[in-house]
Amino acid sequence: MNCCSRHIGAAQTCFGWMSKRYERRYRRKGLDDNQLQLVRELESMGLDGLTLLEVGCGVGVLHQTLLEKGALTAIGIDLAPRMLQLAESRAKEHKLEQRTQYRLGDFVEMSESLDTVDVTVLDKVVCCYPAPKELIRATLDCTSRVIALTYPRKHLLGEICNKIWNFGFWLFRSDFRSFIHEPRLVQESVEAGGFKRAFAHDSLMWHTQVYVAG
Ligand SMILES: C[S@@+](CC[C@H](N)C(=O)[O-])C[C@H]1O[C@@H](n2cnc3c(N)ncnc32)[C@H](O)[C@@H]1O
Repeated sequence: MNCCSRHIGAAQTCFGWMSKRYERRYRRKGLDDNQLQLVRELESMGLDGLTLLEVGCGVGVLHQTLLEKGALTAIGIDLAPRMLQLAESRAKEHKLEQRTQYRLGDFVEMSESLDTVDVTVLDKVVCCYPAPKELIRATLDCTSRVIALTYPRKHLLGEICNKIWNFGFWLFRSDFRSFIHEPRLVQESVEAGGFKRAFAHDSLMWHTQVYVAG
């Protein structure tokens, strides 16, 4: 059992419930602005033939889009079985099943068993994990070229929204909590692994950043 086992169990249940909502939103609206930005940046760096890992991949839309833009293969990891079922059926629907693999579980726990990939994407997942340094360390261990992230900005509005979310989880008797980690801690942890920031954009609520191996 690691530091976060109780939290991980609660996250699994919570995101299982939310999986249909994620799918419906993507079908209605497509990628959100931060995801579009990541796709544009990664595409402009050149995706052809690269191997991808998406941590907390949800219903799979982001890495499947990157595959359609030229990446070779993708591994999607998520805690919630229902998210991965939807990701797999979407991969089939888009004829990507030969180029995708899905793994169920806590990425930090399974990272040692993964092969190194060229690009790792963590889209809105840093805020789901209580120990950001461990998450980033596991990411560095698996990634040779590019790390792309979106994670929440730490400001008053963000803190208020996060407290409301967490109050909602408490009301529903869930042990899941979302976190606004210190952005400098996230950045320094990635840079300590020998990566340099190549792209950064801040929207009202989110940092979107791409780091390349130096
Ligand atoms: C906020 S959702 C974002 C999903 C997707 N990236 C998106 O933006 O649509 C976070 C996802 O990360 C998954 N997750 C959280 N912590 C994880 C961990 N330690 N290992 C693997 N998946 C994790 C959750 O199950 C959930 O599906």
